Amino acid sequence: MNMADRRQKLELTWIGKDDRPRLEPRILLEDPALSHHAPKRVSQSDMFDNMLIHGDNLLALKALEATLAERVKCIYIDPPYNTGSAFAHYDDGLEHSTWLSLMRDRLECLERLLAPTGSIWVNIDWQEGHYLKVLCDEVFGRSHFIAEIVWQKRTSRENRAAIGSSHDTILVYAKVPPNDWKRHRNLLRASTKEAANPDNDPRGPWDSVPFSAQGWRPNQMYSITTPTGVVHKPPKGRCWGATEDVYKEHLAEGRVYFPKNGSGRPRIKQFESERKGLVPMSLWSADEVGTTEESKKEIMSLFADETPFSTPKPERLIRRILEIASSEGDLVLDSFLGSGTTAAVAHKLKRRWIGVELGDHAETHCRMRLVKVVDGADDGGITKSSGWTGGGGFRFYRLAPSLLEKDNWGNWVVSKSYNAAMLAEAMCKLEGFRYEPDPETFWLHGRSTESDFLYVTTQNLSRAQLQFISEQVGSNRTLLICCGAFRAKRDDFPNLTLKKIPQAVLHRCEWGRDDYSLNVQALPPAEAGDEPGADGDAAESSAQAPTATGKPAKRPSKKPARGMQQLPLFDGAKKEKGKR
Ligand SMILES: C[S@@+](CC[C@H](N)C(=O)[O-])C[C@H]1O[C@@H](n2cnc3c(N)ncnc32)[C@H](O)[C@@H]1O
Repeated sequence: MNMADRRQKLELTWIGKDDRPRLEPRILLEDPALSHHAPKRVSQSDMFDNMLIHGDNLLALKALEATLAERVKCIYIDPPYNTGSAFAHYDDGLEHSTWLSLMRDRLECLERLLAPTGSIWVNIDWQEGHYLKVLCDEVFGRSHFIAEIVWQKRTSRENRAAIGSSHDTILVYAKVPPNDWKRHRNLLRASTKEAANPDNDPRGPWDSVPFSAQGWRPNQMYSITTPTGVVHKPPKGRCWGATEDVYKEHLAEGRVYFPKNGSGRPRIKQFESERKGLVPMSLWSADEVGTTEESKKEIMSLFADETPFSTPKPERLIRRILEIASSEGDLVLDSFLGSGTTAAVAHKLKRRWIGVELGDHAETHCRMRLVKVVDGADDGGITKSSGWTGGGGFRFYRLAPSLLEKDNWGNWVVSKSYNAAMLAEAMCKLEGFRYEPDPETFWLHGRSTESDFLYVTTQNLSRAQLQFISEQVGSNRTLLICCGAFRAKRDDFPNLTLKKIPQAVLHRCEWGRDDYSLNVQALPPAEAGDEPGADGDAAESSAQAPTATGKPAKRPSKKPARGMQQLPLFDGAKKEKGKR
């Protein structure tokens, strides 16, 4: 869009807004040694194919697009807040423009993954929150804004600040306007009391109310014998909650609960699933959904021996979001997974999930946490209240390297690390086919419709070979052949389309680029005279300095600018500075 058009609408602009990455749709490679599954099914609804992806989320989201566009029911993200502090596990100090570009690119990918009934929840604080709201209006549509949740993240006083910050905001957008989305979201559990499922009742979590009522009604004054043989009369001044026949029905349905190990007065189970819920409100208190203090304790109890992750979110907070925005079996995505909270909570709540994390804590924290969840060995967070005891599993993935690499003469060629199956899958992604190799038919690697297929080979195909394939395909089907070379005219076979690789895909996207995050370590070192103001034209030099992302960013001066930490980047000593 040029400047004249741009002036027609209200929008936020920033340096580099028009630069958009041309993303390569990578394939994902499972590392079976790091995948983890329960040894056996514990229920029919066990989920085994959840995905934990270690890598840059922009490439990962692009990789998911081919199969999961419009399929994700709930997205929660908690991106780096751009606080200008170095955290132990990731870099959080990006210049504002760069931060906005990084977020815009990711939000656009997320928007494409969101189901028509889905919603996205973005956790942020005051530092970028207001800019993010305008950006989200642009990406999701201002009329699709649902709410700004205020989460009371701390209750302790912040005595050093002019006004202590005790809340984060969570921006909520849906794929459809609020009045339509209202039909797809769930109400909140009516009771603020956490329901539990101590007896593993298949009807799900419950709490209980006394089986007694005020007054004296002759047909509600019978005796009740508990499973341990204790005989109870109604409490003084009260009668039982219903007639004996109704009581017996409740008993037969397994709705009567006797506390004190089966000796106490009867109570009636109230299942969470049967309660009418409450419309969610925008103010979420620490009482209801926890604080950052609570989440740090959750993490410390999980990783007694590891450096604790700095900025986890409480499981109760994520639970509330997932319960409003998804139901059992729905797909949940978090592309800034951190310590793995969203995946852990989604798993315990029987949602399918995908988590993406760039840092090595994908393995050291997320994976280890999720192994414990699957094994039923994590008894913290919402485990008890959700009745979670273990099961299911997940697959651990990494992004494949770029499909193309440069040879010694600087020409793009298919990467040596690609075997035939990887190449076929990558070409399916690039050409918009589903990768479904048919073991019976050597030329069938992917399909786009019932009658349109894809064949990938690095061979130089002769006319006779093409003739043979064309006959097999027949006149009612079509086949796209991506091959090293071919010896025939392109229109010799009406049912075949012939393309050479890599030439056919050379200009589709950017090749060979693995990291779309801001890699501060790779920024060019400052040279004498580069310091802003030294040449009297700091603005120009800042707009031109290249970064590892190819985006313009301010060059680091000798004195590190806010958010441009000098090495070592992951200096534990700095960790406390940027506490949230
Ligand atoms: C605030 S933390 C998320 C904390 C998380 N909600 C939790 O409960 O643990 C942000 C995470 O995003 C990750 N991250 C930052 N840039 C990323 C990228 N480009 N791709 C994937 N993850 C990224 C960081 O490594 C960090 O772990």
